[in-house]
Amino acid sequence: MNSTKDSLFSNHEDIKKLLEIAYELNDIEKIGAVLGWDQETYMPKGGITGRANQLSTLAGIHHEKLTSDRLINAIDRASMTLGEANVYDRSLVRELRRIYDQAVKLPVEFVKRQTEVFSRADQSWQEAKEKSDFRLFADDLKEIVELVRKQAEYFGFTDSPYDALLDIYEPGLTSRKAAEIFKQVKVITGNILEKIEKSEVTINQDFLKRTGLSKKKQWDFGIDILKVMEFDFERGRQDESAHPFSTNFHPHDVRVTTRFTDPFFTSSLFGTIHEGGHGIYEQNVDERLARTVLCEGASLGIHESQSRFWENYVGRSLSFWALCYPELRKTFKRRLKNVSVNDFWRAINAVNPSYTRVEADEVTYNLHVLLRFEIEKDLIEGKIEVEDLPEIWNAKMKEYLGIVPPNDELGVLQDIHWSGGAFGYFPTYTMGNLYAAQMYYTIREKIPGMDAYIAEGNVKFITEFLIKNIYRYGKTFMPDEIILRLTGESLNPEYFEKYLEEKYSKVYKW
Ligand code: CO
Repeated sequence: MNSTKDSLFSNHEDIKKLLEIAYELNDIEKIGAVLGWDQETYMPKGGITGRANQLSTLAGIHHEKLTSDRLINAIDRASMTLGEANVYDRSLVRELRRIYDQAVKLPVEFVKRQTEVFSRADQSWQEAKEKSDFRLFADDLKEIVELVRKQAEYFGFTDSPYDALLDIYEPGLTSRKAAEIFKQVKVITGNILEKIEKSEVTINQDFLKRTGLSKKKQWDFGIDILKVMEFDFERGRQDESAHPFSTNFHPHDVRVTTRFTDPFFTSSLFGTIHEGGHGIYEQNVDERLARTVLCEGASLGIHESQSRFWENYVGRSLSFWALCYPELRKTFKRRLKNVSVNDFWRAINAVNPSYTRVEADEVTYNLHVLLRFEIEKDLIEGKIEVEDLPEIWNAKMKEYLGIVPPNDELGVLQDIHWSGGAFGYFPTYTMGNLYAAQMYYTIREKIPGMDAYIAEGNVKFITEFLIKNIYRYGKTFMPDEIILRLTGESLNPEYFEKYLEEKYSKVYKW
């Protein structure tokens, strides 16, 4: 029933029994995803109470199935027969055990309290952000930090409670490893920024900032770009939402969203490319993994490596705009009349420190993540207090980016993550950037002439390479394994340095 093609999983009775439960679990999760997608796109405001109840009932059913004896017995039985198993069987067992363990470690009362506090905090964060007043969010955040610490205890850790949280989002990542990575990234970024400061090149971005662009034209151009990227509209669609995101119900039904930003139209354009990158990944997971826990990206970091790869390594390259700029210029004739493709490419790659992470350029982006990593770790380890956050935030902004946000809205309150208890999530953004750089050099080595292919509109070969080496496996391999199998070494931030040097020496001419 799952697929017309042969199964990737072995024919063993215990695996088949395990799959039966895995399919049900995944179906329930995907039903929730449909409801969630609708909530963010088309649901009228009045639907929120009904929707919250529906989602909460569904979550209860999911939790019950996930923590059932039926599942753990099936996992245990399948584990005993793994001698005859293939790589998909093993990964299925590994991932199901992982989500089972996470679910049973948290008492039901604790999960209920989490849900209550998060939904309250979502409101107070929004209000605090609107009024740019951290104090309106501080009490809820204090409670969240307590809850998150408790969660780390339930999950267990050896060195730092923050390890337990990192592992939720990027399996295998520890604070120690992350600290080493960020130390390197800090030095790399500092070196590049120093060179940019010394550069005599000034970049004109004014034409990106004027208001009054037609929304329809932006939409149509975005759709064309998604087609260039080989996003399949037979198996996916794009809609509008307040915050761009991507989600999937099946490899044959992947949703991405975009928003329109006026005046800075390129931020919605690159948002489209970014979500398109996430979407292409999900569309190309082998359909025979559908309805199982393996049918999704390997981790948040690996997922982000793909969105960033498309957004930056392809989407902000000169060869990509050699291909797409004539069409863009035709679409926005008046605005781009006197702007050459080189001017445009420089403008979309200009480096300016920004208050917010989402607006950051490729060079300063990771400093925003570094700042959050340090703050989160100290908060969870009890070294700093919630009420001191605005001050600490601004001091770190000053130190790392040389600017201080004028208010909390553009500072400590800018991101939604903490209101939902997502501590340990931010580092995956930097992991994604670093993975992407390392993959980029492998792809260039394996496909000489890559830039020329892009300029000719032959982007397919990149997608095919990524499908063959990453996408089709879904969650079959762990993040470390993926990067090792693909590039021949473990994560190495030096590739990111090489990339920045190569690119920005051209943008800023040194
Ligand atoms: Co992303």
